[in-house]
Amino acid sequence: MMAAKVNERRLHGESVLTQSGRAEWDAHNARATMLADSTFKRDFPLLAGNPSLAFLDSAATAQRPQAVLEAQERFYETMNANALRGLYRLSAEATEAINASRAHVARFLGLDGKKDAHDIIFCRNTSEALNLVAHSYAPTVLGPGDEVCITIMEHHSNLIPWQQACRAAGAKLVYMYPNEQGVIDEAEMRAKIGPRTKIVSAVHVSNVLGIANDVQLMGRIAHEMGAVMVVDGAQSVPHFPISIPELGCDFFAFSGHKVFGPFGIGVLWGRHELLDVMPPFLTGGEMIDSVTEQEATWAPVPEKFEAGTQDAAGIYALDAALGYVESVGFEIMQERERILVEECMRRMGELDFIRLIGPQDPAEHHGVVSFNICGIHPHDVASILDMDNVAIRAGHHCAQPLLTHLGIGACCRVSLAFYNDRVDIDRLIMGLKHVWAMFHG
Ligand code: ALA
Repeated sequence: MMAAKVNERRLHGESVLTQSGRAEWDAHNARATMLADSTFKRDFPLLAGNPSLAFLDSAATAQRPQAVLEAQERFYETMNANALRGLYRLSAEATEAINASRAHVARFLGLDGKKDAHDIIFCRNTSEALNLVAHSYAPTVLGPGDEVCITIMEHHSNLIPWQQACRAAGAKLVYMYPNEQGVIDEAEMRAKIGPRTKIVSAVHVSNVLGIANDVQLMGRIAHEMGAVMVVDGAQSVPHFPISIPELGCDFFAFSGHKVFGPFGIGVLWGRHELLDVMPPFLTGGEMIDSVTEQEATWAPVPEKFEAGTQDAAGIYALDAALGYVESVGFEIMQERERILVEECMRRMGELDFIRLIGPQDPAEHHGVVSFNICGIHPHDVASILDMDNVAIRAGHHCAQPLLTHLGIGACCRVSLAFYNDRVDIDRLIMGLKHVWAMFHG
């Protein structure tokens, strides 16, 4: 479009080299370069090995770079032993790998790698991390008549644990809803978070709308009311830098596999004074101080919350994943994602059979573009796109109450990562036209 504008001006004999024209032209070129074939795909064996695949489901699970796959293999080839348990060199190395990763995760979340590392708890994923809080913390504060406040945008992993905790305690689950602009505003927060609220738990970035909630403000209001603030960071950690001290929350959870790390490794960070007094979630090996026939006492945090043998190889590979993200840099990742989302929404918006869902401003989408096609079920859309080697997610996205609130049972979701490029978007657009033609051609 920019090129057409410049050519038109040339036709009319205008100079295109005015300062602002030059800046616009440079911006256009920078954008085109950014969108062109992604060299980052070379870092990801699955993408490099499948050049005809448009992988547009990174919010479900991201692809893994070679560095992460190699780290996982390196662990098994050179360090494999049960961490914490052995009094020999290999076991000590495995323990060291876990400790180093714990410190790295702390730094990645804006914490102190030395002082705060022991408040990083490794678990399987965000769901397990949030279940830990709901099972171990909630019963210590929730009683009949108390309230837990969440948003209507929650993934089931930050919803069902609270339904269960409220049911067990005779407490009430209260929802915050977005306003007409799609934002959960301060008025709504203040209307729902009150003196009975003991826990506020919110998704940082919605896996359906891509929108980021103001969890910092929510946390301040929660604290004014004497409640704690829990943040589900599963969809924010892969997209922008996190600073827990700035967020000011009390618990923060994310999954390794969405941030280019392995499956089966999740993280819970908790405020030390809370973790310290919370009872364990799972019990068994390595989480105890001492055990008698009838009693047991607990090891300090984090071991208290890490019963059983840890996936040390996965934890080591998560360390590598965070290192990879740092080597690319969030600045580049964010800029690429912003331009990709913009291009994707612009081109989908030109197809009159597509109804885009969520904010109009691409900058608010954090990699996610959800949509429906008039009269065609999302499952059919995804299956037909798959015939063209375009991978998207379709369904309720584990966020049924949100979809009910939006008045739709299901939708399609494209989720982009920095490794995507214009070729992927071209394939998506061609695929969408194909879907429409199959039903209306
Ligand atoms: N939570 C993941 C998603 O939204 C699985 O796709």
